[in-house]
Amino acid sequence: MSDISDQSLAQQGQARIDWALDEMPVIRGLMQQLSESRPLAGVRIGACLHITTETANLARTLQAAGADLVLCASNPLSTQDDVAAALVANYHIPVYAIRGESSDVYYRHIQATLDHLPLITMDDGADLVSEMHKTRTDLLQGMIGGTEETTTGVIRLHAMAADKALKFPIIAVNDAMTKHFFDNRYGTGQSALDGIIRATNILLAGKTFTVVGYGWCGRGVAMRAQGHGAHVIVAEVDPLRALEASMDGYRVMPLMDAARQSDFMITVTGDKHAIDRQHMEVMKDGCVLANAGHFNVEINIPALESLSTAKTRPRESVDEYKLVDGRKLRLLAEGRLVNLAAAEGHPSAVMDMSFANQVLAAIYLLEQQGKLSNEVHSVPLRIDQEIARLKLDAMQINIDELSAEQQQYLSSWQEGTT
Ligand code: ADE
Repeated sequence: MSDISDQSLAQQGQARIDWALDEMPVIRGLMQQLSESRPLAGVRIGACLHITTETANLARTLQAAGADLVLCASNPLSTQDDVAAALVANYHIPVYAIRGESSDVYYRHIQATLDHLPLITMDDGADLVSEMHKTRTDLLQGMIGGTEETTTGVIRLHAMAADKALKFPIIAVNDAMTKHFFDNRYGTGQSALDGIIRATNILLAGKTFTVVGYGWCGRGVAMRAQGHGAHVIVAEVDPLRALEASMDGYRVMPLMDAARQSDFMITVTGDKHAIDRQHMEVMKDGCVLANAGHFNVEINIPALESLSTAKTRPRESVDEYKLVDGRKLRLLAEGRLVNLAAAEGHPSAVMDMSFANQVLAAIYLLEQQGKLSNEVHSVPLRIDQEIARLKLDAMQINIDELSAEQQQYLSSWQEGTT
């Protein structure tokens, strides 16, 4: 019923799950409230997510709400094996996830999750939905819908909808403000830097640090790298984002120019081969390469392999490539999400809001069953606002309310220049 690495790790996993829960007040509140109302009673949910302490607390909440849940990994290198063990041992939730699993095992685990016949999917990258549409079309009939956690997955699902290939509605959790304003920016900012530092233990102060892509994640990574005293360069193809990066105080330039002077280069683009062969050909000796985007395609690893004569592993999560001309380039976490593969992913306090969106989106899908088109839909604003309110309450932050006069003013057009 499960495929995990080591059942004996359950106690350690449970302690870490409980530690994370302390930082997840919104999830704690939902767990309590939904254990009474049980809105997901008996609903089969298949979730393909990073198996972390935060995901475990999402799983506990869905279970408390009555869901019949099964989990698999959304990345071969992000599974926390002790967490997987605790979920199986202490909550009897089937888990298919082993840190370091091969691509074959990864897809076998997705198939095993589909064997549980989910009516709601939860994805981080859209692999579960995509596999279901490609290989298990028998399951599409009767599906309630799915949720998607990440930018890359939302883009893939929009492409499926545009092709008319998508056969059930999806809620884009990523696009909720209480998700991407915080998780993508502050979460990726902190956890990507954490992964780079854990992997290398190299001082960032005074180094040249290039961020490739200035979306929400790129903004966070650049901000935190600058906070460490690095000289931050941003490479961006979108003129608006490039302008924003410049006015945020970073140097902006083409990637070829950045490649010649960088000590660190981090991709957060969501696109393929953002760092390519021609960039590697001009990089400085010792340059550290990492990816914080969803898939391991952002750095052209086959090109790196073909440029090099030898590869060694001087530290865990670091592969050092010796190039034909004698330079060495250091690739972190095999080009996979550095924040999850070399650290522990985003801190619990931001996942608190992301996963509150997941829970409420699943309940919303059920409430709207049969009413939503087979497209990608937003999280309703009322859910977003409710999560923000709950988080502020938990942080003991009070805010003001508009007076009746102010509300009236905002909804009228008669008053102008006085
Ligand atoms: N994605 C990024 N960080 C994560 C975390 N801590 N848990 C689950 N998914 C994540």
